[in-house]
Amino acid sequence: MGRLVVVSNRTPGKGPAAGGLAVALRQTLAEREGFWFGWSGKLVDIPEPHAQITDIDGLTVAQIDLTRDDHQAYYGGYSNSILWPSFHLRLDLATIEAHWYEGYRRVNTQFARALLPLLKPDDVIWVHDYHLIPLATELRNLGARNRIGFYLHIPFPTPDALYAIPHHQELMRDLSRYDLVGMQANRDVAAFTEFADHQTPSSLDGARVHSVDFSRTEVVAFPIGSDPDAFARLAVSPAATKMVRRVERTLADQRLILGVDRLDYSKGLPQRVEAYEKLLANDSRFRRQIHMLQVAPPSRDAIKEYQETSDTLDAVCGRVMGRFAEPDWQPLTYVKRAYGQPSLAGLYRLASVGLVTPLRDGMNLVAHEFIGAQDPTDPGVLILSRFAGAAEIFPDALLVNPFDTDETAEALRMALDMPLDERIARWTTLMASAQKHNVTDWAKHFLDHLAPAKVDHSSTRDV
Ligand code: G6P
Repeated sequence: MGRLVVVSNRTPGKGPAAGGLAVALRQTLAEREGFWFGWSGKLVDIPEPHAQITDIDGLTVAQIDLTRDDHQAYYGGYSNSILWPSFHLRLDLATIEAHWYEGYRRVNTQFARALLPLLKPDDVIWVHDYHLIPLATELRNLGARNRIGFYLHIPFPTPDALYAIPHHQELMRDLSRYDLVGMQANRDVAAFTEFADHQTPSSLDGARVHSVDFSRTEVVAFPIGSDPDAFARLAVSPAATKMVRRVERTLADQRLILGVDRLDYSKGLPQRVEAYEKLLANDSRFRRQIHMLQVAPPSRDAIKEYQETSDTLDAVCGRVMGRFAEPDWQPLTYVKRAYGQPSLAGLYRLASVGLVTPLRDGMNLVAHEFIGAQDPTDPGVLILSRFAGAAEIFPDALLVNPFDTDETAEALRMALDMPLDERIARWTTLMASAQKHNVTDWAKHFLDHLAPAKVDHSSTRDV
């Protein structure tokens, strides 16, 4: 078996706070003597063409620096101001600047040039996420004949949204240069298939644009997961208990409704707080009895749309406080800060309700982690958006349309009133599904699928 090479925009950092993906791939990378390749996090005037190789807690990581302008066009521009909003069906929040695409391509070329000299012929390459869609094309143009897989962590757009993306035809051609493309949900594969099946030659400035040939690329749903058993252990660890004790003291006997999300417009945070506001307005018996905690670490805050989401959330939270707070009772706490996994695991376990209501989401691992952290004898209730990939594997959550704040308010009422036997029955099924979809098996399934050499790309270079 060849080595495994993982490529993503960000590489795992030092310390125990690593995400589930890094934890899951670390062991496979060690077994297969592979390495992780990506951006160093550094912006420089003139980047070295070669990657710098370091050991990060036993993991071999190869990194390159980028110029500020290239990073802005590639990350802040094309990836996060065009692809991210469009793939999440928020065309109204997309900003299009024509030159960003060149920067996006340039960085992908730079990744390929620095990665190529590190490759052996039988290495298997696994590329992650929307920042790096062109990487297979760039590597193959340089002569790489390795098996290359791609995993999209975010939703795949419907054809209409895809057509609104500048250079979408090139992006789709780039996807066709992978041997395997993995997506989160059946919904995403269906959207992709709709695009691929209805590829009609169109015209652009009179020139015929050829449809993309996907016959050598497999596109398969591999829903990602977490390590729910590790979250169960973490939730009762001393580090978690420390946080729980502090929050319990403040809560007194109030029941906790918890949300944990990056501060991103796709997460539906203002709608979520509005639903909570409706619950308090409609059902006065909950006042003083419940408390909502929203943890929302800031994200991509150089982008205007993210600043606006933050401002909107400030306004909605302020309104709810002004409307319902009393000198001795606050309806909600809103913290714009990141917490480590032990603290989060403790909070998940303490919560009576986990409120996971993105407007659209690839998977949403908070749902998995919340389930993992519950006390099996007294579990909390998961309220989950129908538009998260997680809804396909967790039908026993209370599924809601996050745009419909009345429906979410009613789900909150149901969750708070749900009898213990129903909570246990729902959680038991949810936990079984979270365990079945654990992140270690996810990585194994993807890599097993990618393993057989299916295509020889030696004669398929772009001309
Ligand atoms: C999502 C994306 C990841 C990304 C993460 C954090 O989960 O799928 O690729 O790394 O958000 O966003 P950031 O822009 O800070 O890397």
